[in-house]
Amino acid sequence: MKAVQINTYGGIDVLEINENTPKPNLAKNQLLVEVYAASINPIDYKIRAGFLKEMMPLQFPATLGGDFAGVILELGEGVTDLKVGDSVYGSAIVLNGGSGAFAENLAANTGNTALKPKNVDFAQAAALPLVGASAIQALEDYIKLKNGQKILITGGAGGIGTIAIQLAKSLGAYVATTVGSKDIEYVKSLGADEVIDYQAQIFEQVLKDFDAVFDTVGGETSDKSFQVLKKGGVIVSMFGAPNAELAQKYGVTAIGQNTVTSTQALNRLAELVMNGKIKIHIDKVFPLEEAKEAFEHLEEGHPQGKVVLQVKDL
Ligand SMILES: NC(=O)c1ccc[n+]([C@@H]2O[C@H](COP(=O)([O-])OP(=O)(O)OC[C@H]3O[C@@H](n4cnc5c(N)ncnc54)[C@H](OP(=O)(O)O)[C@@H]3O)[C@@H](O)[C@H]2O)c1
Repeated sequence: MKAVQINTYGGIDVLEINENTPKPNLAKNQLLVEVYAASINPIDYKIRAGFLKEMMPLQFPATLGGDFAGVILELGEGVTDLKVGDSVYGSAIVLNGGSGAFAENLAANTGNTALKPKNVDFAQAAALPLVGASAIQALEDYIKLKNGQKILITGGAGGIGTIAIQLAKSLGAYVATTVGSKDIEYVKSLGADEVIDYQAQIFEQVLKDFDAVFDTVGGETSDKSFQVLKKGGVIVSMFGAPNAELAQKYGVTAIGQNTVTSTQALNRLAELVMNGKIKIHIDKVFPLEEAKEAFEHLEEGHPQGKVVLQVKDL
């Protein structure tokens, strides 16, 4: 089968389309899935570049990709809650024991898979798992965002930001977000109440007394975000443990999130998509064979929302 693989860590040039990759073997509680579509996340180019090699070295050749949508071909031992022919979506990232999503077939844990939302196509479903689970975990599980509260979502035009703005609005919050000038109208269309152009304005001087921050940008944006919180507020960062000294100084709770693309989160996401609370925004779809161009578009092209690989033509 065809798969997007690497044999060494590096830039876009290390990506290879291998036509003769063996079909993945199934471990206990795994599913064999015929992949219809997959989406690229920053974690995929970070893995490719070797940023996680100390924590989890890859076995080469390694198939990249986590997020997928497709149809179950085979059930592994112990799988009872899904059946052959079900349309599913989820994560098959190698870090979780999956076989990698950028391939015609993949092995995924049932614990990282759920039934695909019925009202969207495979490309849209593949755009959801990691960004959607990230938004749910931060806003609902950690922040417990409530009606009338004020939240700052940094990086509102990205994959996570696009979902987080819509989820925060559906929970009744007042939403401020930071984006580049080309994305101002885009995030307003998602429902953002207040938009700060990070290239022209200093967000920490404009926003005050917020209940929560969901930081998807990191670095100095993370540190500056503490200034917009009121005492007792909470900041969730996608970049490891936020600065503990600043948390103490401002009297806020600071959480570093490690997103789990669990069946529970995927089911909640499907519910939000099916009742129209969350719409999926795909910036561009590339065929699997154009994986290099697709990575380049995510890494350099400043997309709004998600970049998707179409694996099987419908
Ligand atoms: N910890 C975890 O478990 C976990 C899970 C998922 C993701 N993540 C991380 O979370 C981050 C966001 O993920 P994503 O999928 O949303 O990425 P993405 O789609 O690449 O979006 C990032 C967004 O940030 C914007 N941005 C860059 N600098 C900014 C600034 N100074 N102020 C405001 N916005 C800025 C970019 O806009 P421009 O077009 O203007 O550059 C882009 O829209 C990634 O680094 C990812 O690796 C962590």
